[in-house]
Amino acid sequence: MELLVTTIQSPPCEIEELAQEIAKKLQVPLIPRDRYSITALKNNYQVENIIVITKNGPIVHTIGGEYFFHLNMAELRIENLKNGKNDHMIAAMSLSAGMSVLDCTLGLATDAVVASFTVGQTGKVIGIEASPILAFVASYGLQHFTHEKEDVNQALRRIQVKSKHCHDVLINLPDNSFDVVFFDPMFRQPIYSSSNLKPLRYLADNSPIAESTFAEACRVARKRVVIKEALHNNEFDRLGITAIYGGKYSSIQYGVIKVEN
Ligand SMILES: C[S@@+](CC[C@H](N)C(=O)[O-])C[C@H]1O[C@@H](n2cnc3c(N)ncnc32)[C@H](O)[C@@H]1O
Repeated sequence: MELLVTTIQSPPCEIEELAQEIAKKLQVPLIPRDRYSITALKNNYQVENIIVITKNGPIVHTIGGEYFFHLNMAELRIENLKNGKNDHMIAAMSLSAGMSVLDCTLGLATDAVVASFTVGQTGKVIGIEASPILAFVASYGLQHFTHEKEDVNQALRRIQVKSKHCHDVLINLPDNSFDVVFFDPMFRQPIYSSSNLKPLRYLADNSPIAESTFAEACRVARKRVVIKEALHNNEFDRLGITAIYGGKYSSIQYGVIKVEN
């Protein structure tokens, strides 16, 4: 067994009900917390990961630390956009109000939130996540996390989440059905400075984007396919990408395929 669901100690009814719902959805055992510590539950049930349902939503205890929904850099990036500053991802996507984005690697949904804020109410962002645990945490957080600014909350609520491998979604989509198709796969070499994302590595699909998946993305995109990668990666060469966006001193780059005529 890899995963179980439990609650905080002495949970109120609504937390017990949510835990039941989540255990059913993820098809994993629900274990009463009683007075056990998380370490004791891990040892007793021989699991690597435990989802604890708390008053602030689900927290996944992994061997790499605790994973839970938060805005990460989205808040600062949105603030910068409001102040007229450049965002490298938005520039690489050439994204504006009313456009549609298919985020094929949703993760914590930071990039999707910035995209959703940019495309606004008339646009559309769908996020696909291969790991059912990560899809659940993102989907719950996007629906329940509350920020002091209502436009940020609205950007979160508009994102639709699909718990699937992106190849299976792409092959069923018509040609030219999203303005932008975006990938941010797990970097081949992790950037250790982003330590708040360390637990994600233990839950994520760490495989590279298959060439056949990338070809499907080029068929589905109306304007651009964008892939985020670490500096000096070999992925752009492998996928035949030559247009590179990003900051001069940034450790992250955006490879872009323009598919519009
Ligand atoms: C680096 S994270 C993405 C972070 C995200 N851009 C954000 O802003 O939070 C990569 C995510 O993509 C997921 N993933 C990797 N390959 C995938 C695939 N083929 N289909 C769907 N999700 C995938 C991983 O499980 C992981 O959660």
